[in-house]
Amino acid sequence: MAHDAIRLDGKIAIITGGAGGIGAATAQLMTLRGAKVAIADIDMPRAQAVATGIPDALALHLDLEDEASIEAMVAQTVAHFGRLDILHNNAALLGPDIAQQDGNIEHMATALWDRTYRVNVRGTMIACRAALPHLRETKGNIVNTVSSLALQGHMIQAAYSSSKAAIIQMTRAIAASHGRMGVRCNAVAPGMTMTPALKEAFPPALRQVVEDETLRDQLGDPQDIAEAVAFLASDGARNITGHTVECDGGGTSHVPGLGGFRAFFEGHTS
Ligand SMILES: NC(=O)c1ccc[n+]([C@@H]2O[C@H](COP(=O)([O-])OP(=O)(O)OC[C@H]3O[C@@H](n4cnc5c(N)ncnc54)[C@H](O)[C@@H]3O)[C@@H](O)[C@H]2O)c1
Repeated sequence: MAHDAIRLDGKIAIITGGAGGIGAATAQLMTLRGAKVAIADIDMPRAQAVATGIPDALALHLDLEDEASIEAMVAQTVAHFGRLDILHNNAALLGPDIAQQDGNIEHMATALWDRTYRVNVRGTMIACRAALPHLRETKGNIVNTVSSLALQGHMIQAAYSSSKAAIIQMTRAIAASHGRMGVRCNAVAPGMTMTPALKEAFPPALRQVVEDETLRDQLGDPQDIAEAVAFLASDGARNITGHTVECDGGGTSHVPGLGGFRAFFEGHTS
């Protein structure tokens, strides 16, 4: 594989949630690697602010709850750039107010469950459906942002985590149905990633719990996730499809309670 296989020269990418922490970092990195990007987000002023700092970037309004808006995002990108090579489904229903409502199943409000699935699962499906005819033409690919919470049980965020698990299965389904058409589909599962939004909202005591379970000596930042996404989107990843790459500092790779083990053994050896 040539050294420049991870470059994205001449590729056109859509990044949903491109106004947010991970999406903006991915838009910037893909551009550095040679792509041109459409930044699609429900927050148009922030999408425009991100696009302003990126050469040739296109800001698009997207509401993942609105089928027509998703289809327009793909159509406008192809009309503007002439092709589509990469769809990065990265937007999700997030925020402190949503997280507060998203607890365990016994206390789950049906409306919150439905909205989570409408944005995260239905929205992602419609985006993939609209993009696939174009990706077949370019032998392009899809990278979905899921979450390490989709791979483990937790006492909170039952709607969010199970919606992300549904996207993992959608990733496999698309990889299987479209692999022989030259289209790949993968997912990246970030662990806790220190975006500006999370830095502001996440309680320090809980952050410490996550840090204790992380093998790296710090939590990931949006650039770490962008690197994984850009690699999966590149020709360097041509032999990877249908998979979920865990980009979490090793947080999901070890025995449960490693933080406690570390305290016990390091306590004995120090
Ligand atoms: N930050 C983390 O710790 C972390 C961990 C695991 C997974 N993730 C995933 O990474 C992705 C990016 O999250 P982030 O941390 O950068 O958050 P973020 O809040 O900074 O970005 C999310 C973006 O999605 C947009 N969005 C929300 N609803 C939308 C809708 N209906 N239509 C269009 N856009 C919409 C928001 O406006 C925002 O810009 C999400 O899929 C999230 O689930 C993040």
